[in-house]
Amino acid sequence: ARIPGLSRDVTPRDIRSVGVIGGGLMGTGITLALLNADLPVIMVELREEALAKAGETIRKTIQRDVDKGRIDQAKADARIAAFTPATSLDALADIDLVIEAVFEDMGVKQQVFTALDAITRPDAILASNTSTLDVDAIAALTKDPSRVVGLHFFSPANIMRLLEVVRGRETAPDVLATAMAFGKRVGKVGVVSGVCDGFIGNRMFEEYLRQTWFMLEEGALPQQIDGALERWGMAMGPCRTMDLAGQDIGWAIRKRRAVEQPDRPYSGVIDRICELGRFGQKTGKGIYAYPDGRTAEPD
Ligand code: NAI
Repeated sequence: ARIPGLSRDVTPRDIRSVGVIGGGLMGTGITLALLNADLPVIMVELREEALAKAGETIRKTIQRDVDKGRIDQAKADARIAAFTPATSLDALADIDLVIEAVFEDMGVKQQVFTALDAITRPDAILASNTSTLDVDAIAALTKDPSRVVGLHFFSPANIMRLLEVVRGRETAPDVLATAMAFGKRVGKVGVVSGVCDGFIGNRMFEEYLRQTWFMLEEGALPQQIDGALERWGMAMGPCRTMDLAGQDIGWAIRKRRAVEQPDRPYSGVIDRICELGRFGQKTGKGIYAYPDGRTAEPD
């Protein structure tokens, strides 16, 4: 398929080895997605404990595919053997592509990208999974910003198919083409996004939620909002979606927005729900109640 603004003559590079930095929620999911596509992965995580936990999740998830009859034991063993845990970025000296998934903090990203600049091969592609930081600012941390691109996965990264490929101001055409081809190779559907706050999915979703909270404040019942949107074609309405994702995630984003954009009108009704510790399914109550842990009931 054609990539917007890219000549057909650009040939994607072959990616044979990948390094993932950060063994948290996203790093673990991304690593699984790559192992499942039969790519070898070196995971670099600073905390031994987090590294061990990531390794355990990865092994268990792959083993579950054997139990479900999706793959045989030999395949599972090969995928598990293709996973190499490490605690130092030095392990990434000879890797084709690095995907950074450390804390969402510019200071931490800065440390990582400055180190990668010195450690990796000059032709290695450096990708960030950042959700909210400026990819151009991350690229500017390196000597050669043309090899930096955003690869924004969605959680759970081993399941969700959307991959936003974020094209920075300086991203080289063949780096962009490689990122798109790589996405396809690991079973994702890549969509090129420009650098903007929230990229495509989260930028739209934040506004969609903002209107949801206004409607609640105006007196709409969550069942009305979810009922309408679900019949309109959304897989899950916004109230149920955020109860599932965790209301605390949205709360953290709103707190940041209140500082960044103090004049932007928004409804505090959802903050009152969060102040009660009602974070959704995981706490038994959110906008709805979950008496059996899963089924949403009006509360
Ligand atoms: P997390 O907090 O679960 O994991 C981050 C991990 O990075 C931690 O285990 C931490 O020990 C490790 N780490 C920190 N500094 C490090 C360093 N210098 N070297 C190696 N490891 C280091 O965070 P999560 O949720 O996995 O997010 C990671 C990135 O992915 C962030 O940039 C976030 O914005 C982005 N993202 C998150 C999504 C989500 O749903 N949570 C969705 C898409 C992107």
